[in-house]
Amino acid sequence: MTFFLFQIFPYIAIAVFLLGSILRFDRDPYSWRSKSSQILRRKQLIIGSVLFHLGILVILAGHAVGLLTPIAVFDAMGISHTAKQILAITAGGIAGVFCFIGLILLLHRRLFDPRVRATSSFSDVAVLVLLLGQLCLGLWTITVSMHHLDGEEMVKFMEWAQHIVTFRGGAHEFISDVAFVFKAHITLGMIILFVWPFTRLVHVFSAPVGFLIRPYQIVRKRER
Ligand code: HEM
Repeated sequence: MTFFLFQIFPYIAIAVFLLGSILRFDRDPYSWRSKSSQILRRKQLIIGSVLFHLGILVILAGHAVGLLTPIAVFDAMGISHTAKQILAITAGGIAGVFCFIGLILLLHRRLFDPRVRATSSFSDVAVLVLLLGQLCLGLWTITVSMHHLDGEEMVKFMEWAQHIVTFRGGAHEFISDVAFVFKAHITLGMIILFVWPFTRLVHVFSAPVGFLIRPYQIVRKRER
């Protein structure tokens, strides 16, 4: 099971994530959107969405840098494993709380506003539930990590991720004896990648970065 979940399944999930997204974009481009529901119950959406996106983007950037930077780079910079772990716990914890409040607001709005509920698909709700589950597991791992701040467990996750992205065998061995909550967090993360192309999460590929450099546009309210 350990071999399947942490050596085989990551490749299945990444393949479905990439190929599924390309196929969806090719075959059904008009379904490729964030499915804005701003027109219904705007205020709660704005607060929830901003808090959620702020938190999740910091968390994702933290995961990418933290997991994929070779440990030798941190060593060369003189950053100890303990210091890196404390940084990860603090930054991840603060961003996690933002994300958590945002997700609760988004989920509450989606489930309890009759108009939003009526226009939501199964996947619109499921994606929020999956992200909330993943976030809770992530926050739970912090309580485990706090008990051993030597950073050795964190190094195992870095080794695992770096073995996976460089197609090396033996990756699962780094995960075999870590606490259950870490295994659950990694597995659910892979499941989220697996379902990604079938949900509105595809909008992440279309971040409107051009907004930052496009010509200035004047938008005025219509005079009464
Ligand atoms: C890359 C930058 C991102 C941009 C520009 C962006 C933009 C948007 C926009 C415009 C919406 C629609 C809000 C509305 O209803 O009007 C949205 C919704 C959403 N986004 Fe993002 N997003 C980004 C990253 C992410 C990431 C990384 C995730 C999660 C992994 C995510 C998950 C969601 C979810 C779950 C919703 C639906 C919220 C709801 O229930 O209404 N987004 N996003």
